[in-house]
Amino acid sequence: MKIPYAEPYKIKMVESIRSSSKEERQNWIKDAKYNIFNLRSEQVFIDLLTDSGTGAMSDLQWAAIMAGDESYAGSKSFYKLKDNIQQLTGFKFILPTHQGRAAENVLFSAVVKEGDIVPGNAHFDTTKGHIEFRKAKALDCTVDKAYDTELIDSFKGNIDLDKLETVLKNNPCEKIPMIIVTLTCNTTGGQPVSMQNMKDVYNLAQEYGIKVVFDSARFAENAYFIKIRENGYGGKSIKEIVREMYQYADGMTMSSKKDGIVNIGGFLAFKDREWYDLATTFNIMFEGYLTYGGMAGRDMNALAQGLMESTEFNYLESRIKQVAYLGEQLTKYSIPVLKPYGGHAIFLNATKFLQNLPREEFPAQTLVIELYLEAGIRSAEIGAIMADRDPDTRKNRYPELELVRLAIPRRVYTNNHIDVVVAALKNIYDRKDSIKKGLRITKEAEILRHFTVELEKIC
Ligand code: F0G
Repeated sequence: MKIPYAEPYKIKMVESIRSSSKEERQNWIKDAKYNIFNLRSEQVFIDLLTDSGTGAMSDLQWAAIMAGDESYAGSKSFYKLKDNIQQLTGFKFILPTHQGRAAENVLFSAVVKEGDIVPGNAHFDTTKGHIEFRKAKALDCTVDKAYDTELIDSFKGNIDLDKLETVLKNNPCEKIPMIIVTLTCNTTGGQPVSMQNMKDVYNLAQEYGIKVVFDSARFAENAYFIKIRENGYGGKSIKEIVREMYQYADGMTMSSKKDGIVNIGGFLAFKDREWYDLATTFNIMFEGYLTYGGMAGRDMNALAQGLMESTEFNYLESRIKQVAYLGEQLTKYSIPVLKPYGGHAIFLNATKFLQNLPREEFPAQTLVIELYLEAGIRSAEIGAIMADRDPDTRKNRYPELELVRLAIPRRVYTNNHIDVVVAALKNIYDRKDSIKKGLRITKEAEILRHFTVELEKIC
């Protein structure tokens, strides 16, 4: 018999979680105005809201916390982090920030101006928010097949080179400060970008003299997919693949809360000095001095260690196979999920799941609420609410996909927890035809509204 894979770690510390009654949950979610961000974590049994900052650190990371150097300038922990980032990516110029969106804020303050265009593969919402806040445009150039939820394809995070070239041809280069490639592409379902695509995008960008930035939140998971799916990479280590990936970028924004396996942190890193120099002033103004930029020394130390652990094959295999396990169980019950399964999450196709509901009644958010009511599971809407209104027309935007994301925290839940999620979704799927009404918005912010939106049930 073939020996199966198993997690390359054992559990040393546990945190209690508690299930609740349906009646309790009905009251809590009503008080939360049907926005799961307003729930207290004690009101949640299994929290799949995000894989960001929710991972479990290792013993070596906790040891690194104790050894952190809190010097304001020139801390040992900064240099350790810088060395490890350089070893992994080859980038020499590093600025720590307190998280990923802070890295976006610092970089975009330096280089994105009103009227600019920033093409990419389905920018994450904070990335898009930071671009639009500066009255610039985030143009989606993802391959069309990314929006076919049934299509099995290895690299549905890829940039469509024709779409990208059209943008580059039809606009003056000085209006395009950068191309952003998000690894893996969260918005289209945690789908990876191939090495070939990175190379092609970089070569095209070079022809036009435009920089390429990798939004690197899940760079290690992307590297795992390259190893197992792309010709020529099966025999390479994850660290070798990562090093090659970053040859095709000029810089990176990083949310360390994902593949850094830390609870807070981020950074910017660049191949050369030019953008580093431009970004430093903004880093000092918004984040902190250059060698800590919003992070405690101990957190930089833990991050330096986390980056080395997340780029180990055995860790990535157990992580991504756990996500796939959830996808496979749901597929067994014909529950519509996006395929192939993502690196960090399984995405339910809410318009297919709740076919009675029109887009105006927010089927994805309705499913999020149903899942919470069923078993205290918190998930996230990636649909019309998250898409915000069009900044010009102020009309609701309806993205091609209306999804519910079940994001799996790193090294946190067992497959028994996953089985609870599967059973809860199966129960909802069995009674889906009885769900005939969705939700309506009663209060919303102008930008990034999903965090604070208030809703009510349509009766
Ligand atoms: N880029 C991507 C691809 C992300 O997924 C996120 C965050 C960010 C940038 C911003 O980083 O949160 O550290 O400021 N994604 C989280 C999520 C929030 O749940 O997917 P941050």
